[in-house]
Amino acid sequence: MSMRNAFNPYLLALDCPACGGTCDLSQPRNVCPTCGKPLVARYDLVRIKAEVPRDSLGRFGTDLWRYRAVLPFAADFPAVRLGEGGTPLLPLARLGDSAGVAELWMKAEAGNPTASFKARGLVMAVNGALAFGARGIALPSAGNAGSAAAAYAAAAGLPCRVAVPEDTPEAFILEQQAFGAEVRLVKGTIADAGKLIAEWCKAPDWWNVATFKEPFRLEGKKTLGYEIAEQLGWTLPDVILYPTGGGTGLVGMWRAFLEMQELGWLPKAIPLPRLVSVQVAGCAPIVRAFDAGESSAQPWVDAHTVASGLRVPSPFADALILRAVRETHGTAVAVSEADMLDAMREIAQLEGTFVCPEGGATLAALKQLRASGEVRANERVVIYDTGSGLKYLDAWRQALARRVPQDASA
Ligand SMILES: Cc1ncc(COP(=O)(O)O)c(C=O)c1O
Ligand SMILES: [Zn+2]
Repeated sequence: MSMRNAFNPYLLALDCPACGGTCDLSQPRNVCPTCGKPLVARYDLVRIKAEVPRDSLGRFGTDLWRYRAVLPFAADFPAVRLGEGGTPLLPLARLGDSAGVAELWMKAEAGNPTASFKARGLVMAVNGALAFGARGIALPSAGNAGSAAAAYAAAAGLPCRVAVPEDTPEAFILEQQAFGAEVRLVKGTIADAGKLIAEWCKAPDWWNVATFKEPFRLEGKKTLGYEIAEQLGWTLPDVILYPTGGGTGLVGMWRAFLEMQELGWLPKAIPLPRLVSVQVAGCAPIVRAFDAGESSAQPWVDAHTVASGLRVPSPFADALILRAVRETHGTAVAVSEADMLDAMREIAQLEGTFVCPEGGATLAALKQLRASGEVRANERVVIYDTGSGLKYLDAWRQALARRVPQDASA
């Protein structure tokens, strides 16, 4: 299949929100050729609206490919698939009572291939690599992204290189090696891993699939927004709390809600959910920039937290994340490590889900926003469990070593 035929005919161009530039898909595209910032796909939403009724989505199944009208690949492109997306939105009655909100839901992402939401983005990036004719993929990772990339690369028959911080939980490293990836451990954070990848995996032999360094991970993460809307009967929650590292899911949901309004799949007048960027006190570059009224974030020095997915000191799409939060009238919140660990345990004990630390952070943030009144008792709220707790046994050891939190023992 030629490169041109691989792509969705509704996909018009890749735009650069930073400089207003635009480019086509006549050659492999990673970042904006003019300014080097992230590219965002643009579809012919007018035509999709006329030709793809919301009721026909089931034609493509129950996983995230049901939204393929707004995904990058043509219907007959032989996409590598492992059953990604289509995860449950769980109603949390007991936790809702404890947190003091009328309606609390959790988007539970551990059922994805390699047990995290990273599958949504990496399935698109690896298929993008195939469509662009790349010979191998490479990325820095905090753990989950590397595992997802390695799995899809194995299924696609592409070599994969991953660089991870040396204190990344072993489950991730073994899993990536099991899929045949070459893994290098790096002193420092994902930022240092990114520097190694730049040196070790040069174009054109290696296609860099790091967060926002290619346009399609965002497209996959966008399906989180489509799923939440569809699972709530084509309505939207009032507030969504998203654990933010590189921010793909947050920016992706924002885009999904705007696209669905254009498509007529949601009423235009309906207010968008207030998007809350959740970070931890040990690494909160977005929260600091939000509080200071800045439109970009400065790198966080000495980043530390057991929530490895949140240890991202300088998110590449900082400007887009801040825009998504501000334009939806959301906010950005840093939680303490202790509150995050207690929240993990509370979710497990009240709702039977063995969450990852990043998931715990979203409940801890909700509690802060209830205490400050920024989230009200009568609101409909979505928190996230972005991946399985089974790969974070050190974090769980720490959580269980703490005194039983008051709320959970009640
Ligand atoms: C479990 C988990 N939650 C959240 C995140 C942050 O996601 P994003 O980079 O989309 O902000 C990560 C990233 O590694 C993660 O692994
Ligand atoms: Zn640009």
